[in-house]
Parts: sequence; C-alpha cells; structure tokens
Amino acid sequence: MAVLSLRDLAEVARERLDPAAYDYFAGGADDEVTLRANEDAYGRIGLVPRVLRGIAERRLDLAILGCPVSLPVVIAPTAFHRLAHPDGELATARAAAAAGTVFISSMAATTRIEEVTETGATTWFQLYVQPDRGFTEALVRRVETAGCRALVITVDSPVFGRRERDLRNGFVDLPEGLACENLRELGRDGTWGPARDIEFVADLDWSDIDRLREMTDLPLVLKGITHPDDAQRAIEHGAAALCVSNHGGRQLDTVPATLDLLPAIAHAVDGRVPVLLDGGIRRGTDVVKACALGASAVGIGRPVLWGLAVDGQRGVEWVLEALRAELDRALALCGYASPGELDSAVLRC
Ligand SMILES: Cc1cc2nc3c(=O)[nH]c(=O)nc-3n(C[C@H](O)[C@H](O)[C@H](O)COP(=O)(O)O)c2cc1C
Repeated sequence: MAVLSLRDLAEVARERLDPAAYDYFAGGADDEVTLRANEDAYGRIGLVPRVLRGIAERRLDLAILGCPVSLPVVIAPTAFHRLAHPDGELATARAAAAAGTVFISSMAATTRIEEVTETGATTWFQLYVQPDRGFTEALVRRVETAGCRALVITVDSPVFGRRERDLRNGFVDLPEGLACENLRELGRDGTWGPARDIEFVADLDWSDIDRLREMTDLPLVLKGITHPDDAQRAIEHGAAALCVSNHGGRQLDTVPATLDLLPAIAHAVDGRVPVLLDGGIRRGTDVVKACALGASAVGIGRPVLWGLAVDGQRGVEWVLEALRAELDRALALCGYASPGELDSAVLRC
C-alpha cells in the first residue's frame, strides 16, 4: 500500500506491530469516546479560504518558550518507544532534531534522558510528580543537568485511566529487557539501580506546582488542562505554558475533544502564555484549525509511534515532513502567510 497520509501509516504500523503493543499505543480509556472525539472534531469544522492575497511563500517557524521550532508541531510525550522500534526514543529525538522541532521525552521513556539530550534534540521532560518527593526533586535535577529546556507536568492523571484493550490483552508490563530508564537511581558505585514503578498521586494539588516552581528555573508547562478556570489558576501558579490535552483519550473518557475545549481556554489565557494542544492531529488542516482557535503549536502522539514502528527515525521524520507539507499547502490554499496570522475568520463551525 502506498503510504500517502498519517492515517495510511497507522494502517501499516498496525500490520507490523505485535497486536498487544498496537492496542497499547492505539487505545483509549473505557468506551474510547474521547479518543474518537479528538479526531472527529476536525471534520466538523470547515475552512473558508480567502483568495487573491498574493502569498507566494509561507513561514511556519516560531519560538516556544525560547526554543526555535521550524513548524508549529512538537512531539508529545508518549511512553515506551522501544516497544515500537529498537532505537526507541533515540530515533524519535534524532528525527525531531532533523526536522527542527521539540521532543518531549516521557517520564516513561525506555531510554535515559542523558542519551536523548546527547542527540542534540531540543528536549523537554514530562514529569508525573511522584509520592516520594525526594525522588521527584532528584529527577528534576537530573533532567536540568541533562540539558532539558522545559518541564512538562502532566496534571490529568491523579489515578490511572482504565484501558480495556490492555486488560483484555493482558498487557500489564513491559517485555523483558525494556524498562522506564528514568525511573532508575544512580548508586554510590556509579551503576544504575532497578527501575521503580511510576506511581500516580491522587492528592496532587496546586501546592505541588508551587513547590516545583520554587525547585527549578526551568519553565513549567502544565499538560492536561481542559477547564478555563484551571488555565487561569495555572498562570497564577507560574505556568509558563499550558497544554490543552485529554491525554489522547486515555484517562477520563467522555472529556470533549481538545479542539472543542480550546476556544474557552484561549479566551481565559488571553495571550499571557503560549497554549499548546494535543489530541487527534492527523492532517495539516487540523493544525490550521487548532492555530485558528488559539493554539501556538500542537503536539502529536500516536502518529510518531506509527512512524517509529514502520521505519524508526526515518519514519518519524516522514511524519513531521508530511505534516509540514500539508500545513504549508493548507495555509497557501487558505490565503495565509503563517500559522500565527490565523484566526477564527478562516473557520466555519
Ligand atoms: C501510547 C501512549 C503513551 C502515552 N504516554 C504518555 C506519558 O507517558 N505521559 C504523558 O503526559 N502523556 C502520555 N500520552 C499522551 C500524549 O502525550 C498525548 O496527550 C496524546 O497522545 C495526544 O493525542 P494523539 O495521540 O491523538 O496525538 C501517551 C499517549 C499514548 C498514545
């Protein structure tokens, strides 16, 4: 099959991957209502182009939290890249560097953060605050030393979402030989100890964000904001950016599509900090719609895993270049010179 789109790529990845690994990557919580809603939302909004604007070239580049990116698409944090390809997060980070964008490493990465930053990729680190606050602080120091440029705190996971595909497949742990490498601690003898399990902290609250704010000078991105009042509070508590996210439909099911949640959050934020969005981005026109509704940039989760599964680093590069070409074409057809110029005038809801 000729692979022409991100959706084609997902089909090829499904054929290549072990079915339980495919389901782990593809699946969502409960009835997967949110999972479907994220993608479907883009089909419900139309684009109304402007014509005869004489736009010969488009500019897709911008800076987010001081990090230059060549297109408004970053790599959202997803766990276990070595389950998709033996090169795992190294391949993803190298692809991000080649395409000129940010790689957000998951805390549940199967590659140590030090090896990831050595690739030269602009790297942000996603953190689940752990009940052992000493361990959390040690990890923050570790990612600072490794050269990460921002901390992405995932706030939508006080408990773990229930993913019935995984329960049905008996997918409860990583296969032999793979581990969450950032959950190891360096022993006095200079060797890495066993990997801890990631714990979810039900009593996490705004004071934890304050503590992180005091702990580090890295910009904090709060990921998993879906309510405008929480967007407001996040800014009051020092967030440097927000990510509107429902965890790709993997946590609370029936949360609306992130695209539908975005306008109220963008209104509440009113340009004070960058607003990112992830969930269901599969086309350049999706990026146009998210930017038109107030996103500075978007994150992609599953498409990166499909690229990795099909062709490692080259597969992830293909995903980013496909989105770049589609976004550029969509902007040209809409009559806009850059994503930053888009506003709701281009949309018909
Ligand atoms: C397999 C998988 C693993 C994920 N792991 C994490 C994670 O470790 N931390 C996190 O904050 N989000 C995680 N996410 C959520 C993504 O960061 C992102 O919100 C979501 O994938 C975006 O939706 P999309 O896959 O439709 O692009 C994961 C998503 C998937 C699909």
